[in-house]
Amino acid sequence: MKRSFFLIASLAAGVLAHSAGAAASSDQVEAGEKLYNTTCVACHGADGKGKLPGVPDFTKSDGRLSKGDDVLATHIMEGFKSPGSSMAMPAKGGISSLTMEQSEAIVQYMRQAFTSD
Ligand code: HEC
Repeated sequence: MKRSFFLIASLAAGVLAHSAGAAASSDQVEAGEKLYNTTCVACHGADGKGKLPGVPDFTKSDGRLSKGDDVLATHIMEGFKSPGSSMAMPAKGGISSLTMEQSEAIVQYMRQAFTSD
């Protein structure tokens, strides 16, 4: 009982922290990490280097994460295919309930986990 209250309270705190508009709060990164590890990890890998042919390596400094936050969050929501690519990024990455805010949170997590700056 106590534990479930704690979970609800920390979720609510996460929502409040996000709506305050703070850039990349640790709560946002944490929420992004959980989402990343549900489906994205299957193709992109825990290390972000890509587990299947055609999946980009996020750890490259001149790679996909050099695009802007909004561009990446939108490509996650809408899906994305580069010219000549052998495999497309599926819309919402397989999380059918994904929201734009959650997509932004995942981008913040990926930046923290897979890039050095
Ligand atoms: C079925 C495999 C698959 C899953 C699941 C998947 N991706 Fe992708 N993702 C890809 C592939 C393949 C590309 C490269 C597509 C291309 O450039 O043609 C990609 C590209 C991307 C990009 C780069 C987009 C750009 O603008 O270059 C981001 C960011 C990304 N994925 C995030 C995610 C996130 C976040 C999730 C989970 C919500 C996810 N992916 C789930 C296969 C997947």
